Amino acid sequence: MKTACVILAAGLGKRMNSAVPKVLHNVAGIPMIQSVVNTALRLRPDKVIVVAGQHIDLIRKSLAAKGVVFALQKEAKGTGHALLCARPALGNLKGLVVVMNGDTPLLDPDTIKRFINLHKKNKNDISVISFIAKNPGSYGRVVRDKSGKGLSIIEDKDADQVQKKIHEVNSGVYVINSDAMSILKDIRENSLKGEYYLTDIVALAYQKGLKTSAYCIGSEEEFMGVNTREELYKASYLMKKNIIDKWTGKGVNFLDAGSVFIHPDAHIGRGTTVYPNVYIEGHTEIGRDSTIYPNVRILNSRIGNKVTIKDSTVIEDSDIKDRASVGPFAHIRPGSEIGSEARIGNFVELKKAIVGSGTKASHLSYLGDTKIGRGANIGAGTITCNYDGKKKHVTIIEDGVFVGSDSQLVAPVRVGKGAYIGAGSTVTKDIPPGALAISRVEQRNILKWARRKSAVSSQKSEARKGKGKKKV
Ligand code: UD1
Ligand code: CA
Repeated sequence: MKTACVILAAGLGKRMNSAVPKVLHNVAGIPMIQSVVNTALRLRPDKVIVVAGQHIDLIRKSLAAKGVVFALQKEAKGTGHALLCARPALGNLKGLVVVMNGDTPLLDPDTIKRFINLHKKNKNDISVISFIAKNPGSYGRVVRDKSGKGLSIIEDKDADQVQKKIHEVNSGVYVINSDAMSILKDIRENSLKGEYYLTDIVALAYQKGLKTSAYCIGSEEEFMGVNTREELYKASYLMKKNIIDKWTGKGVNFLDAGSVFIHPDAHIGRGTTVYPNVYIEGHTEIGRDSTIYPNVRILNSRIGNKVTIKDSTVIEDSDIKDRASVGPFAHIRPGSEIGSEARIGNFVELKKAIVGSGTKASHLSYLGDTKIGRGANIGAGTITCNYDGKKKHVTIIEDGVFVGSDSQLVAPVRVGKGAYIGAGSTVTKDIPPGALAISRVEQRNILKWARRKSAVSSQKSEARKGKGKKKV
């Protein structure tokens, strides 16, 4: 039996009051449609179809490389009509059609798997997930007749006063046997909204004698639909909390979880400690027993085991190997790699810099387009002058080099293994291995200069006083 997932994402999202399509709004750092697609992919279906409307190109771009198929719903004529628009993309698939809304980003794939199993076990034609909402608000109410068999979903706008009080509501997640899909054609336009409601299939199926069930599984939070900015914020908060809880369960130590942001795709190893106000964004992987001190932002980077990232450091698209230490106040820009046990200290900026293991750059440096070997020492204030106004050039510093403080290396330039650079040098030529390069002006001492200076200045002040007297 084959399975296809259809995600409805062509609504206008008017309640969001935004120029951006609703399903592209971020929840905990990723567009909600991506979260729903990720859930769908976890079910390992044969096909994922996203129904999109006038913003189809933007949605397609956001889901590039996910391997999903798109169906166009030209006009937002309701959820029932949206699913109908996916039919050509389904082709002659025989099996199950799992339908989800694109605005429910907190869905748990395990709940959906459980739901699909219930559907199969009970040999249903159509099943829907319901949940108990404290405040049913705009959700469709699940109306069961007294026998418990008759089932329908009544939208909030169409519900009478008694129905409005029902707390069991529709999640928007359905499983429909492909053979029962023809029922979509029987949905009539809703007189209040002029839309074709997918929810109507439940009552239609019951009337036609098809086996239909609503399974009240999962929590209100999991099925939360995001229609307004307020709900967007709430969903972000809940997802953030779920992520923190997950990593706490896996042995990560948070000192102030409420102030920490962790991207859904990030990974953190056991025994790592995360201080307050830390942002771990994108596809970041942090190893075991590392420490991330306050106010650190790490984006799309790999941090090894037992690494220390000190306060107020920014790391982007870079690799930090085991037992290295970075910061405080360091900026590690894209394409950098910091070797094991290397130390990058305060006010050091790296850009496309490969730093060998055990190398130290402890203070106030810019190292860009640079390859530094192992065990080198980069003195305070060292600058690689990588840019000539037109092009970027590379600086190579081989193993064991000692760069004296306040040196500039004008790229392209190579410093041979074990060479020394005297402090305050401007290096413009390659340095052979083991050599000492000094380019600063030789020091000159002018003896007794201080005494002569004070004699000259006292003469001047006497002369000024003399001039003043004459005037009186
Ligand atoms: C819908 C359900 C409601 C349920 C709730 C769960 C209907 C009629 N109502 O209400 O019973 O409790 O979800 O969250 O189905 N969409 C389209 N094309 C359209 C209209 C909508 O693709 O023409 C998409 C939207 O982009 C959205 C999803 O369908 O992702 C749901 O639409 P929305 O307008 O948010 O429905 P709700 O009012 O939340
Ligand atoms: Ca909704």
